[in-house]
Amino acid sequence: MRTLLKNIKGLVGAFEEVPRDVAGLEMSNFPILYNAWLAIEDGVIVDFGSMDDFPGILDWSGLNIVDAEGRWVLPAWCDSHTHTVYAHNRSEEFLMRLEGMTYQEIAERGGGILNSAKALQAMSEDELFDDALKRVHAAIATGVGAMEIKSGYGLTLDAERKMLRVIKRLKEAVPIPIKATFLGCHAVPAEFEDAAAYTKHVVEEMLPTFARDGLIDYVDAFCEKGYFGVDETRALLIASNALGIKGKVHVNQFNEIGGINLCINQKALSVDHLEVCGAEVIQRLVEDYKGIEKGKGHPTYPVALPGCSHFLGIPFAPGRALIDAGLPLALATDHNPGSAPSGDMTMVVRLASLKMNLLPREAIAAATLNGAAAMELSHEVGAIGRGHRANLILSHPMEGLQHMAYRFTDAVVDKVFVNGEIWEG
Ligand code: NIG
Ligand code: FE
Repeated sequence: MRTLLKNIKGLVGAFEEVPRDVAGLEMSNFPILYNAWLAIEDGVIVDFGSMDDFPGILDWSGLNIVDAEGRWVLPAWCDSHTHTVYAHNRSEEFLMRLEGMTYQEIAERGGGILNSAKALQAMSEDELFDDALKRVHAAIATGVGAMEIKSGYGLTLDAERKMLRVIKRLKEAVPIPIKATFLGCHAVPAEFEDAAAYTKHVVEEMLPTFARDGLIDYVDAFCEKGYFGVDETRALLIASNALGIKGKVHVNQFNEIGGINLCINQKALSVDHLEVCGAEVIQRLVEDYKGIEKGKGHPTYPVALPGCSHFLGIPFAPGRALIDAGLPLALATDHNPGSAPSGDMTMVVRLASLKMNLLPREAIAAATLNGAAAMELSHEVGAIGRGHRANLILSHPMEGLQHMAYRFTDAVVDKVFVNGEIWEG
């Protein structure tokens, strides 16, 4: 299967050598090749260049030609933080919020994550899989070409295993890369005395079992007042690091309790949320990033989730300040039934410009290459590079990339290519 896209208005994120991530000023300089062509063979990008130097077509056999006149080609979105496997929606909690309760008050009364867990425990693995598959397909249709999915709504060994098995089946059933995160410490179930007691169970019983069964790529904790403290999060990260499994951790959503510092010390792959994120922790992230040589190891990536801020009406992560400080910001949806019921990365990119003042290229870089880096996938997806998977977005005609946020409800994504083929979903 061979495809040639020609007359592309702008080929976004095209690199001769794709870097691991882009940071600070590199983000506003995310490369664009104007008036370009792109060749795909067997699901992989094989070449690209300017139409001015187009070498012509030597072999027409089986060649599918797409005239992209006036349209942009972007790497498909890389959504590095989702809770796409869940039992039911929680729209009744949304109504309660409209009636005046806060997200935290609802959670304190047994709603929130505990509500999701109760419903999930009652559902069969097959039902959960069928629902989640529809959501993953819907995400791909909106331009997602790689994603991470967390457990965390199980809260018992059996139910967490059920979630992780569903994620494993999704990995096999869909043609995009998926990473599985064991969100072991998400909420404390009623049967346990406190967060420390539940964490002990997670660390001693669940983690080794799931790791042995090859069900997890990363671990996660909700490091937050009223959920899991720095001590519990540390215990989980030390245990997972000993198994060679890195952390991707929920921190600083409502309070700064020292989670970012801990995660950097424990070499977590990412710190996610960051709605409450002052100058001191930003500086700590900068020191960490500067200490990691490109091509060697990985920093702790800051991941912002603007859909959650938008939906809960809480502050947005300081995306502008994080980039100005020289960091490789990533953006993700946080798709979940409580705090961000949407898996639409285009919306996230729009919010990043509208609410965090990100330039179009910064927002796109954060939602593609840096998202891929926050899943250790930037050698494969998140950029236009020779040998990279042809997971791409072909946009509707747009004068400039700023139209994504300027015309903030117009459709952006026309066609999605997955492994070089148009996604028919
Ligand atoms: O990322 N903050 C923790 N967990 C999820 C949402 C949990 C829920 O409300 O279901 C989040 O926002
Ligand atoms: Fe989350």
